[in-house]
Amino acid sequence: MALVRIAVFLQSLSRSLPLKIYFAVCRNNADSRLFKFMDNYSRILVTAALPYANGPVHIGHLAGCYIPADIYVRYHRAQNRDILFVCGSDEHGVPITIRAMREGISPQQVVDKYHAIIKQSFADMRISFDIYSRTSNPIHHETASNFFKKLYDDGLFEEKETEQYYDEKAKTFLADRYITGTCPVCGNTNAYGDQCERCGSSLSPEMLINPRSALSDAVPVRRKTKHWYFPLQRYEDWLKDWILNSHKDWKNNVYGQCKGWLDSGLQSRAMTRDSNWGIKVPLPGAEGKVLYVWFDAPIGYISATKELTERWGDYWCRDDTKLVHFIGKDNIVFHCIIFPAMLKAHGGFILPDNVPANEFLNIEGEKVSTSRNWAVWVHEYVKDFPDCQDALRYVLCANAPETKDNDFTWKDFQEKNNSELVSIFGNFVNRTFVLMHKLCGGKVPPLHTDVLDGIDNELAANIREAEEKVRAGIEAYKFRDALFEVIELSRKGNKYLQEKEPWKKMTLTGQKTEEANQKLVDNCIHFCLQLTANLAILINPFLPDTSRRMLHMMKVVEKMLEWENAGKLKLLSVGYSLRPPELLFRKIEDQEIEMQIAKLRNGLVSVQKGDNTAKLPPESNVQKLKPEIQYGDFSKLDLRVGTIISAEKVEKADKLLKLSVDLGFETRTVVSGIAQHFQPESLKGRQVVVVANLASRKMKGIESNGMILMAEDIEGRLHFVSPEDKTGPGSPIT
Ligand code: 2FM
Ligand code: ZN
Repeated sequence: MALVRIAVFLQSLSRSLPLKIYFAVCRNNADSRLFKFMDNYSRILVTAALPYANGPVHIGHLAGCYIPADIYVRYHRAQNRDILFVCGSDEHGVPITIRAMREGISPQQVVDKYHAIIKQSFADMRISFDIYSRTSNPIHHETASNFFKKLYDDGLFEEKETEQYYDEKAKTFLADRYITGTCPVCGNTNAYGDQCERCGSSLSPEMLINPRSALSDAVPVRRKTKHWYFPLQRYEDWLKDWILNSHKDWKNNVYGQCKGWLDSGLQSRAMTRDSNWGIKVPLPGAEGKVLYVWFDAPIGYISATKELTERWGDYWCRDDTKLVHFIGKDNIVFHCIIFPAMLKAHGGFILPDNVPANEFLNIEGEKVSTSRNWAVWVHEYVKDFPDCQDALRYVLCANAPETKDNDFTWKDFQEKNNSELVSIFGNFVNRTFVLMHKLCGGKVPPLHTDVLDGIDNELAANIREAEEKVRAGIEAYKFRDALFEVIELSRKGNKYLQEKEPWKKMTLTGQKTEEANQKLVDNCIHFCLQLTANLAILINPFLPDTSRRMLHMMKVVEKMLEWENAGKLKLLSVGYSLRPPELLFRKIEDQEIEMQIAKLRNGLVSVQKGDNTAKLPPESNVQKLKPEIQYGDFSKLDLRVGTIISAEKVEKADKLLKLSVDLGFETRTVVSGIAQHFQPESLKGRQVVVVANLASRKMKGIESNGMILMAEDIEGRLHFVSPEDKTGPGSPIT
């Protein structure tokens, strides 16, 4: 407690100083030392993860890093700090080339299309970047290339030759994602070389049965290739000291992940890839090789700053700049370990002061899946709710996955909008304005100090305390807590009005004169108006549109939103006439929510004529057709009706069932990856379609002779393909 009090005292002191003095940030209860007490930063550079331009952004992206970063930046701008907010599209790497292949267009067309959509989505959600750049810009190619060259010239890379899969038809090395084959765990014939999307197993290309190139369908061969490796292990001691000893103030999830990586020991990592898409390796004899996307992307923060300002060096190279990377948890190792080691190796750059990473936001209880279209796309939200940007910002902050994965549900979205924004915050501001017009002639009434009471004083204290709490929350990256305090203050405003009942005072006659009554009414409305002005300042980093609407109603200029005004009680001058109230938020109706839930469940992509953004299939539920085949290809398949005689679980394989299938002319054993979808006992007697002439293969030591055809729905559930009427086993499907 004492520490907190000292910290709060120092904070209030710091407001008049150019230096920033920080609140105590403690790792946990057991360790309550002050890890970071004071810092001397003169400027702040905030980065938000560069999203891959391989698809639109969804609300998980917003909640993960863009909204917290935007709140942080808006708050510091209101403090008149020298701050820059940089971001841009990550336009290289396998995610882009895969998308190009799926959509049948070039990687350049992919990034051009999605860069535009993503940029617009951020603008629509009021994410206030100072620059939203892209890694295909020449300035980035030059910066990343020079960075690589410097490390190379300093002899910091290891050159290594290893064997990797090569497609002799397409004449190219294959990234793991470009190799497909049968999953050894569940039998999915379309598993990738790094993962099976049906059963979720992590794979390597060598594990696939019948590996094929996704580019040409050729059987890939192993071929030697040379790459440049960055020896992370050389920086291990330094990283341990820098993170584990000096950055105990980082969030638990970030610190914990870093500790895990560092405890298990670092290894050299290839910083180049065989590809034609990306930044060319700037060395002689390196044709067909590009920088690894995770080498070039974080350098994108530097290039974007260069593009923005000639003063970029102040932000990247001076110790008195505070660098903060906002990211999602899947990016922690790259921002906390690999990029800092690269910066350290290069020399001349500052390192991040903090990397506040959020966890993931699930949707309606399930993980976001772009391939299943299980996501709420920002460009679609903005189209469906063109007047509700702040409602989404509110819910995503109030429900942010700051310490653990969290869930977004449309019902909760409606509930938070209707019962918090509309009924508490909006209601308070609206009542205040209505009463001011009704009881005080539309003007800010005077304050009569002779009739002040304890309730008034308590409200004044609440306003001051709220400022302290919101400030402390934002500076400690606890945006949920900070936002809660703003709503809490508006709740106290409602309680104050309820206690004061100014509407009743005007009807009272008798002991008190009308003049005395008016004095009480004046004081009440005066406080409510000053509270409204404070709420506009405090809500501004979170809900910028709302804040501006409030300014309009109060007829004041943006300068009032400067943070130093928060906590003050004379923001609106006595006698100043204000506009009539406007509703700050609208109620969200049941049918709107039902429509969104249905849209999500059906994997709908709204399509409006002539609207390009609506046409995009965000890895839509409709799978792209495989390349055309001839009848001869099809006729090679021998498909037969089979009847399942028995089914049992396969030991030590939670996804596999061993089935005995009657094909009329013989009984077959078929191992099928359906154990998580069906109970073995429910399968007896069921008719199925079997690929009867598939070469046999062993799975978990059992020889499987054939394959059962299944249909997979949008939710990933499997359904048998069966003849409508009972059909003799062995009947051919023709
Ligand atoms: O995970 C991603 O979407 C990456 N494109 C993030 C890159 S962040 C930075 F390094 F550029
Ligand atoms: Zn699988």
